[in-house]
Amino acid sequence: MKDKVTIHTLKRFKQIGQKICMVTAYDATFAHILDQAGADVLLVGDSLGMVVQGHDSTLPVTMDQMVYHCAAVTRGARRAHVVGDLPFMSYQVSTQEAVRNAGRLVSEGGVGSIKLEGGAEFAETVRAITRASIPVMGHLGLTPQSVHKMGGYVVQGRDEEQARRILDDALALEQAGAYALVLEGVPMDLARAVTQSLTIPTIGIGAGVDCDGQVLVCYDLLGMNPDFKPKFVKRYANLHGSITEAAGAYFAEVRQGTFPDEDHSFKANKNIRLVANSPASRAEVPAATDGEKMGPIYGAPV
Ligand code: KIV
Repeated sequence: MKDKVTIHTLKRFKQIGQKICMVTAYDATFAHILDQAGADVLLVGDSLGMVVQGHDSTLPVTMDQMVYHCAAVTRGARRAHVVGDLPFMSYQVSTQEAVRNAGRLVSEGGVGSIKLEGGAEFAETVRAITRASIPVMGHLGLTPQSVHKMGGYVVQGRDEEQARRILDDALALEQAGAYALVLEGVPMDLARAVTQSLTIPTIGIGAGVDCDGQVLVCYDLLGMNPDFKPKFVKRYANLHGSITEAAGAYFAEVRQGTFPDEDHSFKANKNIRLVANSPASRAEVPAATDGEKMGPIYGAPV
């Protein structure tokens, strides 16, 4: 496809100073909407373990679940480059397993690249996956799969030693062949220094404005959860409010018996006269028009 975003498009964006817009997506409907809204990159993040599955971390997410969600998102996306997250324990055990699992996200999930968390210690893994012609996006700073090691979801790189390590890790990942890097939960000065040190694009989340692009979890930017408001999230909508209002209006009409009205109901053909079976409710149903067709959505009539 002519205007499909690729890893080469993203590299060019950095060169010309065009910011990269990345957002998570977990299903085909959201992927379609976000793609049409102009996303350059859709990330099928293992954050789905928290926002879709309701866990309190990303650790329970499995390879099979990632493949399932990646396939749904790639079916919904047209222009955006789709990245699939390698979940916890799918790449840490051995390089061989890492390559095989990255391959599954591409061949079964249809993604254009994969993302994995970790620094120089995964340089060999990045090299091996890249050698298998699968582009790799790195992920440094606050890496949610290391929640127990970090002692919680804590901003990383605040002191000089940590900051130096993150910069070294970034350079090691670029050397190993990573095509881009997510920087999560790091001070903006560090993100700026990393961004200026690399030729590959950085994509920030809680990392300040100087990264080459930004990523947010779609449910966060859309305001789906009023109880989750970390400092780095800006809500661009209040879908929690809109959904609550819409669903509440539907429930009220169902309870009042005003939904469905005639406009949302079907009528029998003109020549049919139907009589209810039960003697108590025996009554003639009014004659009706024909010509209503079954539509494609869920096999539902339209
Ligand atoms: O899993 C995810 O959604 C992520 C982003 C927050 C970068 O890794």
